[in-house]
Amino acid sequence: MENIFNKYLERTELNTFDLKVFEPSFVPSRMPHREKEMTLIADNFAKIFIGASPKNEIIYGKSGTGKTAVIKFLGRELKEISHGKKNVEFIYLNCQVKDNAYSVIESIGNAVKGEQIPFTGWSMDKVYTTARNNIDRWNGSIIVVLDEIDRFVIKNGDDLLYQIMLMNSELQNSSITIVGITNDLKFSEFLDPRVKSRLNEEKIVFTPYSSDDITDILNDRLKLANVSNFVTEGAVRLISTLASQENGDARKAIELMKTSIQLAISNNDNTVEERHVFIAKNKLEYDAVAETLKTLPLQTKVLVLSIALLKESGIAQASTGDVFDAYRNLASSAGIPILTPRRITDMLSDLDMLGIISAKVKSMGRYGRTKIIELSINSSETKKIILEDENLSKLKNYNYAKQAKLIF
Ligand SMILES: Nc1ncnc2c1ncn2[C@@H]1O[C@H](COP(=O)(O)OP(=O)(O)O)[C@@H](O)[C@H]1O
Ligand SMILES: [Mg+2]
Repeated sequence: MENIFNKYLERTELNTFDLKVFEPSFVPSRMPHREKEMTLIADNFAKIFIGASPKNEIIYGKSGTGKTAVIKFLGRELKEISHGKKNVEFIYLNCQVKDNAYSVIESIGNAVKGEQIPFTGWSMDKVYTTARNNIDRWNGSIIVVLDEIDRFVIKNGDDLLYQIMLMNSELQNSSITIVGITNDLKFSEFLDPRVKSRLNEEKIVFTPYSSDDITDILNDRLKLANVSNFVTEGAVRLISTLASQENGDARKAIELMKTSIQLAISNNDNTVEERHVFIAKNKLEYDAVAETLKTLPLQTKVLVLSIALLKESGIAQASTGDVFDAYRNLASSAGIPILTPRRITDMLSDLDMLGIISAKVKSMGRYGRTKIIELSINSSETKKIILEDENLSKLKNYNYAKQAKLIF
């Protein structure tokens, strides 16, 4: 039998491809259509070099508009130019990882030479004082980026921002600038007026990319990957159009490009065409749905499964009554507690929000109103993914066909 890798090695042009530039961790050094934003932020940071303090900054913009990439690029440039010349620290923190005040202050305090702060165990007061002393003795400028800061504030409130600003005002020889990044355009409304006025931040909004912008970004990335000749113009245009329909999300566009290229390679095709893009898009959507389904709580899985079974037995638009019955049946077969209609109703609205089902209120004339529940995703795939859960092993050998006839 032919070696399974042969088809890749036979095509020497594939050896010149550099597909890692499509990975999420890749930080490009050119960012088309973000030159203006980059210059604005760089001008602010550059105050460090003329003995002034940069202003605090909040960067707003929807997902995939280049906020994280721009700031990481600037951080890299800043570190490079100040290395060995000036005490500058650029600290990038993602607030989903650093999700409490202790770990943020600890990271800032340990970024410079001084007394080491343990990652846990000290009182907040001691962490704060040690961090402040370390930073002041070090004599330099810190820029701390709090990416996805809205999540932090929703979880912990805005006291952290206050503490960092207080620390900054207590420093004699050093300074700290805060850069917050958020997807939430209303973020500053969450802030306490006291924090807001002290922050006195510069606001920068990253607007969504247009279809043409995305085309430029993609073409640039194709060049970096050395695959410009492998991808047709039509495929690039299609991805750009699709991405601009989804809020101009460059992340999704790049991911779709990567998946389309991989698909064409594994099919042994000579170019990436529109058809690859369509298939890749379906695959990504399927993967995303599968991921969502897998992470649902057990009870919710059973609920989704019962809606999928209703659909398979011909009831694509089920009333809440149908859904309750089907759910009760499955839950008892699975050997799990049966939840109240109230809880089920809550779960249904969560599922609606996740896009797994759609729930619409329908008027039944003089019989009042009822909700119509419809599965928004493929029922047999849904069934397959949910039944992978070991806790539902009792449902594996369940006679669905028979059951469907009995209860539906
Ligand atoms: N103008 C641009 N030029 C090149 N690549 C970009 C541009 N904007 C975004 N990207 C890329 O798109 C992806 C998403 O960008 P990211 O900065 O993570 O978005 P955000 O943080 O706003 O959600 C990253 O891979 C990034 O490199
Ligand atoms: Mg980001």
